[in-house]
Amino acid sequence: MSETYVLRRPTYRPGEVDGGAVARSLLHLDSSASRSRDSVSRQLTGLFADTWRGRRGDDRYDYRYRDLAADPVPLISPGFVSLGRRAQRHGPVPLAVVPSLVRGDDEAREWGLTLPLINELLAADTVLLGVPMYNFTVPAALKAWIDRITFPGAFTDPGTGQSLLERTKVVVVEARGGCYRPGTPREGFEFQARYLRAYFTDLGVREENLHFVCAEMTRAADNPALARFRSMGASSLAAARSAVTALAARLPDGEA
Ligand SMILES: Cc1cc2nc3c(=O)[nH]c(=O)nc-3n(C[C@H](O)[C@H](O)[C@H](O)COP(=O)(O)O)c2cc1C
Repeated sequence: MSETYVLRRPTYRPGEVDGGAVARSLLHLDSSASRSRDSVSRQLTGLFADTWRGRRGDDRYDYRYRDLAADPVPLISPGFVSLGRRAQRHGPVPLAVVPSLVRGDDEAREWGLTLPLINELLAADTVLLGVPMYNFTVPAALKAWIDRITFPGAFTDPGTGQSLLERTKVVVVEARGGCYRPGTPREGFEFQARYLRAYFTDLGVREENLHFVCAEMTRAADNPALARFRSMGASSLAAARSAVTALAARLPDGEA
């Protein structure tokens, strides 16, 4: 796994107050296997990130980018599971205590792969996810990240038992070749938004801090078999572009 790209050097720690200005941080994760020019989700998350950064003065934010498809997070191995079980037996333990629970090289390696990703998420005020629908759900590249960051107790305050992600804003930008709206024949096949909503709320992200934008019928423009859906695909994309721009412009810097 290679390093995260820090495209904008942080001059403030996330949330740190300096002369009345609050620095904010955006963690941007893409998971499409396609390159930018072909990927609708990448284009939309790029638009969000550009708008979000454009709102802020130079250097008054921390922007981190991770391409989960080009730079996959390694799948969890037995050491991740055994360390996680041990941590669970101790109740929610502070991350700083986990190294004292590590036994053997596999667990040490697993923790070394996991901790930076957890810290990256904890440091983000806003998390931006680019998510294509693959076989009715999220890409395996994103699922590998989810499995790894979901270390027992990592997002629970050991003192209060509260989620450490209560104030984190999560923006999910979805792209899908079909249409799964309520009332359509494939409504019941939708395990992309439904899954991510369940996952993030279970992690403690508040409903009001979870935002979904979706472009549907993304292949209608270049697939002759879907020609009759072209105008639907075009209007869905236009609406998604407006939605991400508006969201990036209005998401509060303060706590939602
Ligand atoms: C491996 C794979 C599986 C896919 N499975 C589905 C699917 O189950 N349902 C669907 O509506 N579209 C499916 N698609 C189409 C993609 O969701 C669509 O092309 C979307 O725009 C991909 O996101 P991207 O443009 O950001 O790469 C699939 C595409 C690929 C490559």
